Amino acid sequence: MSLRPYIVGNWKMHGTRTMLSEARSIDRAAQRLMKVEVAIAPPYTLIHPIHREAEQIAVGAQDCHEMEGGAHTGDISAAMISDAGAKFVILGHSERRQSHGESNALVKAKGESALAGGLRVIMCCGETEETRDKGDAVSFVTKQLKASLPVEIDNPMESLTVAYEPVWAIGTGKVAQPSDIEEMHGEIRKLLVNLYGEEHGGEVRILYGGSVKPENAGEIFAIPNVGGALVGGASLTADSFMGIALAAAETDEG
Ligand code: 13P
Repeated sequence: MSLRPYIVGNWKMHGTRTMLSEARSIDRAAQRLMKVEVAIAPPYTLIHPIHREAEQIAVGAQDCHEMEGGAHTGDISAAMISDAGAKFVILGHSERRQSHGESNALVKAKGESALAGGLRVIMCCGETEETRDKGDAVSFVTKQLKASLPVEIDNPMESLTVAYEPVWAIGTGKVAQPSDIEEMHGEIRKLLVNLYGEEHGGEVRILYGGSVKPENAGEIFAIPNVGGALVGGASLTADSFMGIALAAAETDEG
């Protein structure tokens, strides 16, 4: 059994209530594209308003704290985002690893907390340009991912997604070579099978992220072990985001 292609929009720190109309358009288009699972992770402030209106798409968050609650000014727990309507959370994004100094151990603790709170997790990994130039991309990413992933997961096939996002491809217009994506996703697949067994590890979706656009999406989705995309800039308009979802549907048809 294979899960549907998964197309997730990461709105990052973009979007006020004026963006609700865009979310509505995405939701309407997703209703006509049931072969693809479409979701968006807006800023926290838009989780509930989008969740309230959405009929098809799932809404998620871009981070959560590792603790259930307490004296953590400015932070938000898995239970809180879930209460607002989030069904999943993106964790370990390179922008958080870099600008908030998040370690693998912290990301793993967040993952455990999110799963315990009933959220699905999209776990991000990716190497810098310097690491790739040194020829260390595969060993870096597999180590980073192994150290970030929770060990005990009920039903990993459903509750876990991995997103490979080369840091140098994010927001730059540069996309990794198909052969490099194939190699990395193949290594990630091996790791997932090792950690969670063939039945689940063989099915967990591995998304590619980094400058995915409607124009390059078809080529990316044709690569083995690419189960969808985590999309930044191109997820901010329904036209470009759903263009990517359409490419996923067409590639899946073969
Ligand atoms: P871009 O699609 O803007 O390159 O961002 C990718 C990303 O970081 C998604 O999480």
